[in-house]
Amino acid sequence: MGKPYVFITRKLPDEVIEPFLEEFEVDMWPHEGIPVDSETLYSEAEKADGLLTMLTDPIDESVIDRGKRLKIIANMAVGYDNINVSYAEKKGVIITNTPDVLTETTADLTFALLMATARRIVEAEQFIRENKWENWSPLLLAGKDIHHKTIGIVGMGRIGQEVARRAKGFSMNILYHNRSRKPEIEKELGASYSSFEELLQESDYVVCLTPLTPDTKGLFNAKAFKLMKRDGMFINVSRGATCDEHALFEALSSGEIAAAGLDVFEKEPISADHPLLTLPNVVALPHIGSSSKETRISMIQLCLDNLSLVLKGKSPKTRVSL
Ligand code: DGY
Repeated sequence: MGKPYVFITRKLPDEVIEPFLEEFEVDMWPHEGIPVDSETLYSEAEKADGLLTMLTDPIDESVIDRGKRLKIIANMAVGYDNINVSYAEKKGVIITNTPDVLTETTADLTFALLMATARRIVEAEQFIRENKWENWSPLLLAGKDIHHKTIGIVGMGRIGQEVARRAKGFSMNILYHNRSRKPEIEKELGASYSSFEELLQESDYVVCLTPLTPDTKGLFNAKAFKLMKRDGMFINVSRGATCDEHALFEALSSGEIAAAGLDVFEKEPISADHPLLTLPNVVALPHIGSSSKETRISMIQLCLDNLSLVLKGKSPKTRVSL
């Protein structure tokens, strides 16, 4: 019997793959910056025992149906909204994700984005590069304080909890909204559970970290932004589709809320002429929440470990189950 065959939908570093080449045969989409096309994905799904996929790959029924030998899809992300998990489960295909290894890195980025948005870091940097700095002046690029303000975290999972720890270090008042209460976090960090509406009304910084599900799609809509403080700021490091971008644009341009820091967008990559990118009170990042070298390598390794375990008939480390 030959080795199992794994197809990887993006070019990944050879040195990370190499240790696994004794266990399985590997082929890889040759581009790092371009997603696999659907024709290749379909034909590879037909041949593969395992797939290592990215959050940009739509793994729908038609991909899963082609996978006659497919045992595992290892998704290189903690989110798995790109995969029809219930269909995969029905077809006996195991789905895995990459929780834990990215938690702190994504929390760091969330806090960096919050700070950049609050203190107008990007605008200030551009100001210098455009040679606009003529004099120190009392209210030049004045931002909003972070310390002792209220942060409202929507989605108190692993990443939300790490963001709360960082917020505690800044003496912030912490509110959160989540499907279930987290008594240990309330005790440790003094965080208070609130209704979604109350959180919107009370928070200086509303931070979205909830997974994208049918319930959270479009959660941040015109009604939500109306409830926020006029000097409130919206930070999204979850998935773009949790937010109605048209409503966000209206809220930001009409002064209903003060600013937004966005790492994710409804359509990625966002086009450079998107209305949100015309606003000076938006800090936009290209979905880099977990993007430190160490963490991205750990995520790849975790995917490969999961593939290795499942292809040997064992349980994976981080199986997604609904
Ligand atoms: C994830 O893992 O879901 C993140 O969005 C990747 O940065």
